[in-house]
Amino acid sequence: MNAQPHRPEKTILRALAGEKQGVPPIWMMRQAGRYLPEYRATRAQAGDFLSLCYNSDLAAEVTLQPIRRYGFDAAILFADILLVPQALGADLWFVTGEGPRLSTITDQAGFDRLKPVEAIHDTLNPVYETVRILSRELPREPTLIGFAGAPWTVATYMIAGRGTRDQGPAHALMAENPAVFDALMARLTEGTIEYLSAQITAGAEVVKLFDSWAGSLKGAAFQRYALEPARAIIAALKSRHPGVPIIAFPREAGDNYIGFARATGADCVALDNSVSADWAAEKVQVDGCVQGNLAPHHMVTGGPDLVAETRRIVQAFSGGPHIFNLVHGITPAADPDNVARMIEAVRG
Ligand code: CP3
Repeated sequence: MNAQPHRPEKTILRALAGEKQGVPPIWMMRQAGRYLPEYRATRAQAGDFLSLCYNSDLAAEVTLQPIRRYGFDAAILFADILLVPQALGADLWFVTGEGPRLSTITDQAGFDRLKPVEAIHDTLNPVYETVRILSRELPREPTLIGFAGAPWTVATYMIAGRGTRDQGPAHALMAENPAVFDALMARLTEGTIEYLSAQITAGAEVVKLFDSWAGSLKGAAFQRYALEPARAIIAALKSRHPGVPIIAFPREAGDNYIGFARATGADCVALDNSVSADWAAEKVQVDGCVQGNLAPHHMVTGGPDLVAETRRIVQAFSGGPHIFNLVHGITPAADPDNVARMIEAVRG
């Protein structure tokens, strides 16, 4: 046996393998988005957001735009976490200025109308094609990241039919009809495994699991509906695709961030900013790579605070493996020049 471990070349893969680097790699959630004029032009050409997601050539084009403009260390597949519900048979549309709308699932009959997991690829094939195009066309350095929503977060949208502040309808179904709720979670867990596995087969080098509403699960519910599905998805992917790193994002998990990587097998935990970088360096980064955690408003406000806050985060995580990122997506009001200033503050 050769004891020399394989050392990946790309900077994101090195961070995910646990390597501390002088300059952390950087990418940004929603880096392809409405703050960029070139994104708005391509989106207009596609017609609307969902048509853009399913147009493989244009989805690949918008994925590449922020790479060309800024030289990020990762490209994230352009798609949406709500394509999986649509592939399972839910109706999905976006209301301008408001957000997503879906048909709702409130009972057994609603659940029974969903398609089986095997059917998802019929809808999601264009996404895999986007990944194939990107793995051909990306420059050598940036790492291609695929993604999916975690079962709980996706379930909250499928149950309520829209984004909700407190995820009330999903919590209500969990309490009032646990059989339907658990069946939905199981279907989503299976579907997410198949979806991410197909993205990896198509060329995704890393995958990220977005559990944006994990913070509203407390105590045993967090273990059962955030941690356990992540563990099951990661275990299945690791057995099918050994060596492909996985980033988990149990947003606003608070103390539940501690030990999450160890318990789920994730190679990296993405952080929001309800936890401080100093706290997370001590409590979470001890287990491996962390990603985060600059507040996106700095991309709007800029100025000396942007630079100071960026440097503070880089410094706080400088003792271990770190991927610099925002805590959620960059907003349409962001100034593209502030993104360049952030990158300069990280690398300069
Ligand atoms: O990070 C990336 O750029 C990759 C692509 C990506 C999108 N959405 C594109 C998108 C990813 C990873 C997501 C994740 C996503 N989508 C989440 C989890 C992360 C988070 O943001 O909390 C959620 C909850 C969704 C569902 C969703 N999609 C909402 C609530 C909205 C509306 C909000 C908004 O900004 O309008 C979307 C739309 C969406 N998804 C946009 C983009 C670029 C804006 C679409 C547009 O061009 O109008």
